[in-house]
Amino acid sequence: MSYQIAIDGPAGAGKSTIARKVAKAKEFIYVDTGAMYRAMAYYLLCNHIDPEDTKAVEKSCMEADITICYEEGEQAVFLNGKNVNDVLRTEEVGNMASLTSKNPKVRLRLTSLQKALAEKNNVVMDGRDIGTCVLPEADVKIFLTASAGVRAKRRFDELSAKGQECDIQKIEEDIIKRDEQDMNRKIAPLKPAEDAVFIDSSYMSIDEVANEIMTLCEKSTSKIN
Ligand code: DC
Repeated sequence: MSYQIAIDGPAGAGKSTIARKVAKAKEFIYVDTGAMYRAMAYYLLCNHIDPEDTKAVEKSCMEADITICYEEGEQAVFLNGKNVNDVLRTEEVGNMASLTSKNPKVRLRLTSLQKALAEKNNVVMDGRDIGTCVLPEADVKIFLTASAGVRAKRRFDELSAKGQECDIQKIEEDIIKRDEQDMNRKIAPLKPAEDAVFIDSSYMSIDEVANEIMTLCEKSTSKIN
């Protein structure tokens, strides 16, 4: 039986940074489910699919074969055989992922891949519906959040560091819009699992958040030693 740590929360809460750190410390794999939704969105964008055209999204998503492999501990996402990691972290792809992830066929394709990974490996998995839908029996469930202002600043710094031009005001508006879409969709909305531990990372360092999660893992009934 694998050990599962589920981290959910809104855009820019620091999920991936924290999840990667915890996974490294515990020698688990880190499963970034947002990257899978982004890869699907990237495929739909490349094919000029209107995100509101349900039929077109459903037809097109069946043509997108998304697979994951691990290269030196880092997740690589392959779309129809091609590594697409480098094109996924733009606001355009993130917004398209938020719009198209409400489609049940898109979710079904990706959640089965996520469940299969967690069956075979000890995982730290982050996303929006991990504790509620994908891994309802996870050993530790975290709902990681931070204020919209702090999250916008973090995203701004991340994009600026990559040399992408961006406007912090616009990023904050996009973040708020994206949270609303993710929280209000009918299927697997962003919400804390009933047994999730809330962590507000607004005024916490990465190490403080990671240590809190490690402590929770130690307290949970250990299936590994
Ligand atoms: O975490 P992220 O910004 O990479 O996610 C991009 C979008 O993908 C997010 O706005 C909603 C969707 N998503 C989802 O619906 N379910 C997940 N488990 C992960 C992401």
